[in-house]
Amino acid sequence: MSGFSSAWLSLREAADHRSRNAALAEALAGHFNLRDSVTITDIGCGTGSNLRATAALLPARQSWTLVDYDPALLSTAKDELGNWADEARIEGENLQLIKGLAKIQVSFRKADLAADLDAGLGAPSDLITAAAFFDLASKAFIREFAQAVAARRAVFYTVLTYNGRCSWQPRHPADNAVTAAFQRHQMTDKGFGISVGPTAPLYLSDQFKLADYSVQEADSPWNLGPRDEMLLAEVQAGHLKAVSEVGAVEPSALDSWASRKLTGAVIGHTDTLAIPT
Ligand SMILES: C[S@@+](CC[C@H](N)C(=O)[O-])C[C@H]1O[C@@H](n2cnc3c(N)ncnc32)[C@H](O)[C@@H]1O
Repeated sequence: MSGFSSAWLSLREAADHRSRNAALAEALAGHFNLRDSVTITDIGCGTGSNLRATAALLPARQSWTLVDYDPALLSTAKDELGNWADEARIEGENLQLIKGLAKIQVSFRKADLAADLDAGLGAPSDLITAAAFFDLASKAFIREFAQAVAARRAVFYTVLTYNGRCSWQPRHPADNAVTAAFQRHQMTDKGFGISVGPTAPLYLSDQFKLADYSVQEADSPWNLGPRDEMLLAEVQAGHLKAVSEVGAVEPSALDSWASRKLTGAVIGHTDTLAIPT
């Protein structure tokens, strides 16, 4: 079990999809638009949200490999992708989907990327992608990952990497202390060694530049408001839990922060597109 429930991933999916940076998505689409087909590896795939958002940007024939170490999430991904598609056929362990004009083949790989990155990435694909993943990773993992992607000459596209720029509505005197303590929690070990947390976009950009890639980055913040009541409540509860574990905010200030009803929040993310030169 990864600690990421399918309920949490489902709750955030709409906000994730609308927050993706449109200019970077267009740049990705432009890169592949003369191709008939494309192969894609999605790491830390969860229930397949990244495929559901990215497929529309890619050529009509797509072959995806979805990688995660959590078998329950991989199984839910199979079900949810089947429901999302216009037509779905199960072929052994694989799915054949039709969505609009796209014919999408999907295979699933259970792999712990922290234990064996090469096995997780498998054979070279045209595009290696991930969503909401790299803030879990360590500096060493990102270095090794950029080298492994470069060795495969793949394009790299990742979205919704947490970058630490947060604001809350209504404001509260403990906002800055809570955000800072949450960031400290983000920089603990999430399975890859000490995590880079909100500095992940910076490390990704540096490592891909070192690997001779041309790197574009753009903001993709969650702008949460009244329509996101449940997500706001979960984000607030998540901050309360993480910040309590860090212990850096005075308990009565933290209680007061957590008991005010949020009407909005901006949670900063970055999207990154890296193309071999
Ligand atoms: C925040 S979730 C994002 C899921 C999905 N990409 C999305 O956008 O909804 C992070 C995902 O990374 C996976 N993950 C975390 N550590 C992993 C590891 N060491 N190997 C493989 N997958 C991992 C988790 O199981 C989870 O599905």
